[in-house]
Amino acid sequence: MSTETASNGAEGGVAAASATLTVTDNRTGRQYEIPITDGTIRGIDLRQIRVDDEDFGLMSYDPAFMNTASCRSAITFIDGDKGILEYRGYPIEQLAEQSSYLEVAYLLIHGELPTQQQLDTWTHEITIHTFVHENVKEFMQGFRYDAHPMGMLLASVGALSTFYPEASQIKDAELRYQQIIRLLAKMPTLAAFAYRHNRGMPYVYPDNDLSYAGNFLGMLFKIAELKYQPDPRIERALDVLFILHADHEQNCSTSAVRGVGSSQVDPYSALAAGVGALYGPLHGGANEQVLRMLHRIERKENIPGFIDGVKAGDERLMGFGHRVYKNYDPRAKIIKKAAQDVFDVMGTNPYLDIALELEKIALEDEYFIERKLYPNVDFYSGLIYEALGMPVEMFPVLFAIGRTSGWIAQWLEMIEDGEQKIARPRQIYTGARTREYVPMGSRS
Ligand code: CMC
Repeated sequence: MSTETASNGAEGGVAAASATLTVTDNRTGRQYEIPITDGTIRGIDLRQIRVDDEDFGLMSYDPAFMNTASCRSAITFIDGDKGILEYRGYPIEQLAEQSSYLEVAYLLIHGELPTQQQLDTWTHEITIHTFVHENVKEFMQGFRYDAHPMGMLLASVGALSTFYPEASQIKDAELRYQQIIRLLAKMPTLAAFAYRHNRGMPYVYPDNDLSYAGNFLGMLFKIAELKYQPDPRIERALDVLFILHADHEQNCSTSAVRGVGSSQVDPYSALAAGVGALYGPLHGGANEQVLRMLHRIERKENIPGFIDGVKAGDERLMGFGHRVYKNYDPRAKIIKKAAQDVFDVMGTNPYLDIALELEKIALEDEYFIERKLYPNVDFYSGLIYEALGMPVEMFPVLFAIGRTSGWIAQWLEMIEDGEQKIARPRQIYTGARTREYVPMGSRS
């Protein structure tokens, strides 16, 4: 029997002495006492539970990490049942209302809101690193004319590791900081180049007189004017979208960044893994799927038939449901408002009516109520992007720009966490064992 007992962290007023889990292994009749810390047992504490000396020890099986914490983190808090999202303890609503994206990036990465001087220095450093090496441009020009911009972003972020080989020295805090600045600064440039490539338009160099979002808009949309002047309402709406997408604790792409980063590879390669994960239709690709879905539904009259198909399991209502939120995604509420601001400038999006009606019907339908399926961040973001004149392929790219700060913060936290090692899950092997090799001529 294990003699170890809990040493700290009982939750909800439970006395420390009782913060253990007593397990009886009915195969052997032995009892084990496993410490509970922060409402969690350590997976490795199960290993001592064995039937005999040959036994590897008990494991937990958790495909898709439904109930497994992979790290301790002080960056983002989510209460999925209550619909709460906080970065470093600050509610997302307050940050979206009062902060700028670069301020939020500072908060996520440094842990505290910056003073005015800190913010000025941070903004200046990021602004003066927005240009990319000319070879990066040539590299991007090598893509086919119709290359998906997210594929281009994925490749070009990874390629940055070849331009900054010193980035591999991840234990050097100063060098790490330099890559962080570069990543935040160059991500919009790479994203805009990917967009212009896709449109067959010349790439536009950054304009360091403009804000982070304003410069990005300029690199996307500047044509022949000498100076691009973004509409401040559009600039602000885009900045808010970046804030809302900045971090979301251990989501698929962040887990990819942490997982790949745990091999101690450079941050460009680790973030390229994040971009890859975000490319998928169940993650960052969902807003693209929402728009395709709305276009396919086309008219309000087609909604009931579409909903029937979803309930029959033919397809999913994209932009609905979340692994963590079992309530209205707080980001979706803020986005709905930002959408209005954008439509005021750009004119309304005809698919907004379909989206609103779809939401209304779904929120009253037993199928969605029972499964706690509510609109998530992607349900309305695509409509804004479309109103901005963005093709659907750019939607996950925009998500990636915002998420870069979160990926960096999480990557840094992982690097500095003494408990982290290379990520390496276990498996339950279900295949054949030790077979005699069959020569080609004898195979049926
Ligand atoms: N439409 C219809 N049914 C759904 C949906 C949906 N969007 N989402 C979940 N369900 C059903 C699902 O069929 C299952 O039903 P049943 O119990 O009868 O089998 C039940 O709800 C539970 O679903 P799940 O697939 O076990 O839930 P999950 O936590 O694995 O999936 C999700 C989360 C986000 C992948 C999923 O809700 C989904 O596919 N949503 C659509 C895609 C989407 O909008 N993704 C963006 C997520 S937010 C941005 C981000 O963080 O990346």
